Amino acid sequence: MTNILLTGSSRGIGAAIRKQLQARGATVIGHASRAHDADTIGADLADASAPEELWQAALERSGGTLDVLINNAGLFSATPLDSTDDDWLAGWEDTVRVNLTSAAQLSRFAVRHWQERGVPGRIVHIASRAGHRGDSPAHWHYAAAKGGMLAMHKTIARAYAKESILSFAITPGFTDTAMAGDYLSSRGGPGLLADIPLGRVAEPEEIATIATFCALDAPPSMTGATLDANGASYVR
Ligand SMILES: NC(=O)c1ccc[n+]([C@@H]2O[C@H](COP(=O)([O-])OP(=O)(O)OC[C@H]3O[C@@H](n4cnc5c(N)ncnc54)[C@H](OP(=O)(O)O)[C@@H]3O)[C@@H](O)[C@H]2O)c1
Repeated sequence: MTNILLTGSSRGIGAAIRKQLQARGATVIGHASRAHDADTIGADLADASAPEELWQAALERSGGTLDVLINNAGLFSATPLDSTDDDWLAGWEDTVRVNLTSAAQLSRFAVRHWQERGVPGRIVHIASRAGHRGDSPAHWHYAAAKGGMLAMHKTIARAYAKESILSFAITPGFTDTAMAGDYLSSRGGPGLLADIPLGRVAEPEEIATIATFCALDAPPSMTGATLDANGASYVR
């Protein structure tokens, strides 16, 4: 049985990942900003102590062993350049903490958990196309956090591969969730689709298929890989 801690499992991409992992027989310990249901641990990742509390609560629920961590929770909130200095800085710090720092804290707990036991483990990071390409003028923080996540992922992959601790990253383009809906309407709506050769945004189930593959199936030699899913809107 594979025990998986999945952050941000309450909706969007996270809910789709949860469904696909459960269909494969994995035990998924869900998480969101609050405990939406009995299978979900509530922890607000804007709070610096939340990742440790979440990790401990997840260990308790799993019987002491976690095999996979999926860093999926994320915040996409505009901070316009002409905000007050205080507001701009608060927006930066909130987005970087939720999207990068908390994922780093959880990844550290996971790596140490596997090292102490001498067992293999996997981390899957849900980053973003923005980590490669940048984002809108009101989202410096989001792009920086996702770019940081990709750099962290590569560091983890290279550092611990010898111990069978593997790291994979996924970089979705627009995906049809509440997050993307907000973005599309904030950037002028469907006109944005003209930038996507596939002609549509991704479905959460498509990202979930890739995440499930990384969590359960990807061969160890793939560690360190970053998998794009953006309808060819950004081809590297
Ligand atoms: N949708 C896209 O177009 C897109 C594109 C590229 C990358 N991504 C990335 O994919 C991931 C999932 O995105 P999504 O579109 O599925 O997002 P979503 O529908 O907005 O869901 C976000 C998830 O993260 C959780 N979350 C948000 N802020 C949190 C906080 N402060 N503390 C704890 N949990 C928090 C939410 O919990 P609650 O339900 O409790 O709020 C929810 O489970 C994110 O990392 C996002 O950056 C999305």
